[in-house]
Amino acid sequence: KRVAILISGRGSNMAALIEAAKDPSYPAEIVAVISNRPGAPGLTRAREAGLVAEAIDHKAFASRSDFEAALEARLEAHVVDLVVLAGFMRLMTAAFVESWAGRMINIHPALLPAFPGLATHERALEAGVRLHGCTVHYVTPGMDEGPIIAQAAVPVLAGDTAAELGARVLRAEHKLYPAALARVARGEAPIVGERVEIASGDLL
Ligand code: GRF
Repeated sequence: KRVAILISGRGSNMAALIEAAKDPSYPAEIVAVISNRPGAPGLTRAREAGLVAEAIDHKAFASRSDFEAALEARLEAHVVDLVVLAGFMRLMTAAFVESWAGRMINIHPALLPAFPGLATHERALEAGVRLHGCTVHYVTPGMDEGPIIAQAAVPVLAGDTAAELGARVLRAEHKLYPAALARVARGEAPIVGERVEIASGDLL
């Protein structure tokens, strides 16, 4: 499967996906990295890894759908099968999301449906949860709401700061995302009704 990774920032998940995709037996090929922020450090990182990395500055467009039309044109140019959001910080219109239904995935730094949105580690600490983690899910028009493909849990330790907890979650993200993308690319994460049919076997 031909994959485009969309980023907005540092791109550490992108780097983990690029690393995994170097293995010839990995079922997905990263054909492009696209950032909506021209200054995203992840773009440099992608180019250093020898990938095609492009910026489509959302500020240059009058509307969300104009930006998405430009994005769509680049996805078509790269003949992309799957879109992988990795720290992509733009909300997308329902029309765009629906046009990629079942072919666009995201990683969220919490165990959904707990803590959708921003500042997940701070909120996990405030709530006093003992387990926190990350979720890979299909993207649907509702933010952080789509069918769950895979999750990884990490403990919340006494005295954790949000930064410490976030770093622990991020290490889990870097393992989970490549494993989850492989499952999607192999067709092993089918959506049945509103859920992903759970494939047998542990992901990690
Ligand atoms: C990650 O925590 C991811 O879960 C969230 O945004 C962050 C992106 O980090 N969606 P990076 O750019 O992959 O380093």
